[in-house]
Order: sequence, then C-alpha cells, then structure tokens
Amino acid sequence: MLALGGATGVALVIPTAETTEPAVAAPGGHPRHHHRRPSRPVPSADTGEPFTRPLVVPPVLRPVAVTATTDHYRLDVTTADVEIVPGLHSRMLSYGGHAVNPTIRARQGRRVRVTYRNRLDQPVNVHLHGGHVAAADDGHPMDLIQPGQERVYDYPNQQAGASLWYHDHSHHTESEHVYRGLYGFYLIEGSDEAGLRLPSGQYDIPIALRDSLFAEDGTLVWNQADPFSRTTLLANNRHQPYFPVAARRYRLRLLNASTHRTFEVHANGATLLQIGGDGGLLPAPVPRTSILLGSAERAEVVIDFSGNAIGDQVFLADATGGPLVRFDVVRRATDSSRVPPQLRPLPPMPRATAERLFVMRVDPVTFASLINDKAFDPARVDTTITRGTTEIWKIVNGDAGLNLEHTFHMHLAQFRVLDRDGAPPSPGESGFKDTIYVRPGESVRVQATFDGFVGRYLYHCHMLDHSAFGMMGQMEVVPPGS
Ligand code: C2O
Ligand code: CU
Ligand code: CU
Repeated sequence: MLALGGATGVALVIPTAETTEPAVAAPGGHPRHHHRRPSRPVPSADTGEPFTRPLVVPPVLRPVAVTATTDHYRLDVTTADVEIVPGLHSRMLSYGGHAVNPTIRARQGRRVRVTYRNRLDQPVNVHLHGGHVAAADDGHPMDLIQPGQERVYDYPNQQAGASLWYHDHSHHTESEHVYRGLYGFYLIEGSDEAGLRLPSGQYDIPIALRDSLFAEDGTLVWNQADPFSRTTLLANNRHQPYFPVAARRYRLRLLNASTHRTFEVHANGATLLQIGGDGGLLPAPVPRTSILLGSAERAEVVIDFSGNAIGDQVFLADATGGPLVRFDVVRRATDSSRVPPQLRPLPPMPRATAERLFVMRVDPVTFASLINDKAFDPARVDTTITRGTTEIWKIVNGDAGLNLEHTFHMHLAQFRVLDRDGAPPSPGESGFKDTIYVRPGESVRVQATFDGFVGRYLYHCHMLDHSAFGMMGQMEVVPPGS
C-alpha cells in the first residue's frame, strides 16, 4: 500500500510492494511496485534511551590524488552494517562502507573527479544535487553503473560555494536506494567565504536529517506503502544523538535527506541565524525561530551557544517528530568567528524570455504521479530550452484536493524564488535554490538562467516516492540557433 502523505497527515493508500530486503532491479526496467501485495504493519524497534550516543560528524573524504587543477576521489557503492537500534546491526547501503557516508569538500574553481565502483548486485548511479555539471556527469536515471563496473564523474565546481549533496538517481530505484542510505554531503567552499570568518573547521557541522523505520530485529524497513510509519528520526544515521559543544558559534548545514518527510526544525525558541539555503549563502543573515525543510532542501544556520552556561542543553527538534539532536554545552572557548551583516551580494536578475507552467499532481483515480498530466518517460523531452536564456517557471501543486505536499527540484540551474501565490517568498528563500517546497494548492514562481551546458536534464518532485512513480520531466538545453 502506498500512502501519499498530505501536509496534515491525511493519507491516500494505494497498493504497492513492501520489502525489507534490498531491491533487486526487475527485468525490463519495471519498478517493483508493479508486483503488489498488501502491506502489514511492522512493529518498530526499540531505539533505546535518547541522547546516549554522540552525533557522528561525517568523515571528510581524502583525495586519492591531487593535481594542479583537480582532486581525485574513489568511493565504493557498497553496504554497511550500522548500529542504530542499540545492540543490533542494520544493513544499509553506503558510499565507502562507513556508518555515515563521507563528505566531499570541494573548492570553487577546483575540479573534482570521483570514481565510483558499484559493489552491489544491482545498477546504481550518482547525481550531484545542486551541481552545475555536464549532462554526461549528471547521473541521468538511464545512465547507470552496472554491478562490478566503475564510473568517473567530473565536477568542475564553477559555481558559488554551497552545501550540495550526492545521491543515487537510478531509474525507479532512486527512492529505495536513497532511503537505504545512498546519500552524502558535497560541500563547495566559495572563494568569497574565507574572508567572512564564519565558523569553520570543527565548528562547521553537516547534519543529514531523515526518517526511517527499523523492525524489531534491526532490519531497515523500506515501506514505500506507509511513509508515516517511519517514525525513527535520524541525524547522521543516529537516533537522537547528543553533541558536546563549546560555548561559541557553530555553523550547521542541515539537509533533509528523507524521501518523503518534511521537517520543521527549531531550537525551542533559540535563534537559528540562517546564513544559507540550497545554493549557498544568503545576501544577509536571517534570524529564524523555525525552518521548514522539504525533501532535499538545505539550510545553513549559525547557532550561538556563547550565552549558554556550561551544563546547558539545547535541543534541535522537529515540530512534530520531537528532538533530533541535543547540544550539550561542555566548555568555554574563544571565538574569532563572526556573522557579518552582508554575506553574498545577489547578482541582478537577467530578463526572462519565456514563462512556463509545471503542475505536479497525483491522479485521484489511477494514482499516477504526474507533471503537466504526464508521467516520466526517459525517451521524451518535455521542455526545450535555449542555452544562455532565462526563464520563469510557475510551479503549481495541483493536489489541494488530495492535500499532498510536493517539492520541486530542477537539475543544472540554481533558481531565484520570485513569489509564492503572488506574495513575496520568505526571507530564508532570498538566495539561490534548487529545490522548493510547494504546499497543497500553492503556486510558486522561480527564475533560472540555463547557461554553460547543453543536453538532457531532469526536473522532478523530490519526494522520491513521487518521482519514482512518474512525477518527473525532462528538459533539453540546446545551443542558440538550433
Ligand atoms: Cu536530488 Cu534529481 O535530484
Ligand atoms: Cu538534483
Ligand atoms: Cu511530490
């Protein structure tokens, strides 16, 4: 049964498969959910006492070679047995076999090449979410790494500093692969950042938030049927970890890595000073009391513990799911970091020469997941764009009736948000973005410039349970005059 969750938790239920074993790709490219059987509730494992284990900071991946222009990395796509339920090991999919996938740290203007070897028994691929990369390196769903094969992805990093992430994008299996663990951080440091003196090094912490469901024996259960049963929330693959901090500023890079869930993150009234969004730094910091993060959205915040006493506990929590991380203030520290009043100026917006409409909608009769009434077809180009041009895209959530949330993600380009239902967007959306949360019935207008590369790229709902069922379209960027 597939529940298509609404903002208020109303669920539509349609039949599909539920598995506790990693997927085996079905022949002919047909998704597993064509083989349907009814679902049964899975009792969730006892995740034990909260705040008994520390937050794991993802290890920074070390290059295997460094040349004048390029950092070379290698990663195996494999499995890892991760202890999330105390005393039990949960088999997850992993980049490199770590319990938490490594962070790739890139620098603006320096090329990165990552060689991925597929050690699983099914095809995978890798997409750099938010990356401005050639089509051949974008991880198109039909462009796969077969079992036993390896593949080099080339990332020029000719883009502003930003908290990107890499994840699987294999056709029809992306949702399950990401759910099972195939995602990690890819951070580009902008050439403008060092001079800002934002908290850095051990005070710059990426945190991937997600939901999950573990059976009593520790098995990670992928029940696309019932995303609301995924009540175990994880921060960097730990449930409710604590994190010892100094009484000073920290930069937190928050990612919603869930395939379906929306987070509304807060710190019990403490200010989250938002400094960045999907596409990097905002023009100026914005104090927030809570931040909504749809699937795949990122927010960078600075949290300042200097006003706290030693022994204080500060919770990062979700509005409905409860505590995510407990920060324990354990020591004093000197702090030479700052958050300047201006961070990154916004360039003027070029004039748009085209306006398009994209309606995301689930058909209430067939439950097909659609954009502009079509389900994804990799052989079809839905949108042709001339390289170098600027367009306004009006993105409509057509599911007011079913009360479904959607998030819209565009490959290749970072966009600016023009308005939500005609009203100005929230100040946290003032910078560049690549993914946007769209409430049931809402319309959002964004503007993007499609420069640099030609070829086929995707746009889709980033609730991957929707895109895997067809809520995805294909654009082709063509040279001027073609
Ligand atoms: Cu996060 Cu099509 O990507
Ligand atoms: Cu992407
Ligand atoms: Cu959706």
